[in-house]
Amino acid sequence: MRYLQGLMDFINAAPTAFHAVDQICASLASAGYARLQEGETWFLEPGGRYYLTRNRSSVIAFRLPRQELSHFQIVASHSDSPCFKLKPNAQRASQGCALLNVEKYGGMLMSTWLDRPLSIAGRLIVEDGGALETVLVDAGRDLALIPNVPIHFNRDANDGVKWNPQVDMLPIYGTEGADYLCLLAEKAGVEPSRVAGGDLFLYNRDRATLFGAQEEFSAAPRLDDLECAYTSLEALLASRPGRHVDMLCVFDNEEVGSGSKQGADSTLLADTLRRIAGGTGLAPQALEAAVAKSFMVSADNAHAAHPNHPEKYDEQNRVYMNSGVVVKSSANQKYTSDALSIAVFESICRRAGVPTQRFANRSDIPGGSTLGNISNAHVSMNAVDIGLAQLAMHSALETAGARDVAHMVDALKAFFECEVMINGDGAIRIE
Ligand code: CO
Repeated sequence: MRYLQGLMDFINAAPTAFHAVDQICASLASAGYARLQEGETWFLEPGGRYYLTRNRSSVIAFRLPRQELSHFQIVASHSDSPCFKLKPNAQRASQGCALLNVEKYGGMLMSTWLDRPLSIAGRLIVEDGGALETVLVDAGRDLALIPNVPIHFNRDANDGVKWNPQVDMLPIYGTEGADYLCLLAEKAGVEPSRVAGGDLFLYNRDRATLFGAQEEFSAAPRLDDLECAYTSLEALLASRPGRHVDMLCVFDNEEVGSGSKQGADSTLLADTLRRIAGGTGLAPQALEAAVAKSFMVSADNAHAAHPNHPEKYDEQNRVYMNSGVVVKSSANQKYTSDALSIAVFESICRRAGVPTQRFANRSDIPGGSTLGNISNAHVSMNAVDIGLAQLAMHSALETAGARDVAHMVDALKAFFECEVMINGDGAIRIE
């Protein structure tokens, strides 16, 4: 229950990837993790705990063992979710209303963004003397709404509608003359004339909530993938250190292909591993040897069988909410899992008393992908793709199993606390 409430509080306070990472950093700092800057030399202590961010929208935390490190045990998730981003010149007017010119960020279910209170959050770049500063901002109130066309002018609306994001998805946020940048500057406590620009996003104002006869479901925006980001953070903070390096990665930009300087397709993880090797005085080849013995859990939510459309899911490889951690497989390696890594992860869960279930897509419906295989193309190690079962992925409001939150924390805590000993040739021992 504590983790469920914690997740809901985390999501409510994380309207954008910047805010999610900001919260993760605050939790790490209060747990004694020291902040590293990528632009400085790192001096790392045995047993030390550290974190760094890139772009303030991706974060990596790691905990060193007291003795020489044997390998890395990594959990990776993502901080971003599909939404709408304000264009550089977003101010627009029509029919006496002030509108925002927005574009899609990622692949959302567009219709779910209609007719519900929205707001704006993100980061402002603020000029301060000769310097440019980043200030996170959240309007923090119902501010905008994307209105539907009435059924009277769109009689076929219930037979399927094609949405054009350039035309149909522009929210109103006031009467003509309203100035969103002034509003946000004021909220951030800065002079509007000093705002040089911003990365600003629409977000759904719905608060995370529980529903169902026994409150067995959670409904919240951004469950994909803040649920995995939050549970992996809590698992790290609750776990005891071992002989390996425990590592938490939360990458931005998964929803748009991970191809940014801070995404899973960047140098961020490889750079960090190399710098840990340098900062702890590892002998030549010791890093490569450690990586070869390392294990990654790529954690991103999964598709629960939809009760109204069970035919969309493979009959023997469907997964259900509140039934445990989902282990994902795909023959074409959209997921990193293989028989060996699945056996490792399932055995860790079994010992921890956490139920697991196996997922594969229908062969005629490709499904999605995630960041594990992208990261593995840069830093290659044994890896498994997992997640929690949820409905309505990429809707403005998603649904997941309330009891699964504790399942994931327990599973990842057990993963951080065990030693996955990889001896090559497909031999792995778990201690
Ligand atoms: Co995801």
